Amino acid sequence: MSTVLEHQSQQSAAHQPLRVRRYKPLIGAVIENVDLSQPLSEDNQQVVRQALVDHGVIFFREQTLTPEQHVALARVFGTPVRKNVYLPAVTGFPEIEVIAHSEKTQSGGTDNWHVDVSWQHQPPKATVLHAQEIPEGGGGDTIWTSSTAVYDLLDPDLARYFEKLTAVNTFLASPKKQALADLLSGYDIPEGTSEQSVAAGLARVRDASAKYPPIEVPVIKTHPENGRKLVFVNEGHTSHLLGVSKTASQSLLNYLYDLIKTPEVQARFEWRAGDVAIWDNRQVQHYAARDYGSARRRIHRVTLEHDGVF
Ligand SMILES: [Fe+2]
Repeated sequence: MSTVLEHQSQQSAAHQPLRVRRYKPLIGAVIENVDLSQPLSEDNQQVVRQALVDHGVIFFREQTLTPEQHVALARVFGTPVRKNVYLPAVTGFPEIEVIAHSEKTQSGGTDNWHVDVSWQHQPPKATVLHAQEIPEGGGGDTIWTSSTAVYDLLDPDLARYFEKLTAVNTFLASPKKQALADLLSGYDIPEGTSEQSVAAGLARVRDASAKYPPIEVPVIKTHPENGRKLVFVNEGHTSHLLGVSKTASQSLLNYLYDLIKTPEVQARFEWRAGDVAIWDNRQVQHYAARDYGSARRRIHRVTLEHDGVF
């Protein structure tokens, strides 16, 4: 009898209607009335997939998830893939990368606005983060900007011009060269090994330069599911535009970067432990605020493989 009741209550939990609440007018949604530790019904899976396509980034507040449940949630949106083999993974779950800063590592420097891995021809489709530990005293927010809303800010004549342009993307594009060293040394690494880790990191950069030469990408792309045009160049990975002078290239890119940094097209998310954020890497750019000094911040990340349509 109790088994039947439990089953029924699980069923009703899984099938309860979700609430999709807009987070900011132009980007983001919070999904409410859902416990992600329960499997989502087919209908609810469809609702959250559509919410991601419609809003670019979706949030689920304060979820208690095991690593299995985190991966199961990610599978609702695509196929998990390990994108950064140098980050530690959760024991027994190679597809869950651990992004961590502890008291031993400073979070200094600044991030760049970027599309994850846009220096490869097939960047990830989406990413599913689950916050484990948030800096005491605040900080460590993540900010997303809508690349489709950025496109909509363009004057139509200018948009047509940008549509004709091709950019070059490379993982070495960042104007803030020091950020690269920060990136490579800032992860949670055992005490006493940071110098070697930095040296190893720089060796990895040399290897990756040979393996991943710069690629050509369109400045403007079209989202495969919602059909909206979007600005694809980004400060983190775009080095220059082809077919124009170096000066014009930098001016034109800076013009787009200014739009990308416009607060009206952004969503800034203040994490709480347990929060889940999922972004569509094809239609948003993101920026991680590094304002928490040596406080602890730990997030689990599952990245979803490119699905061949973007
Ligand atoms: Fe990123």
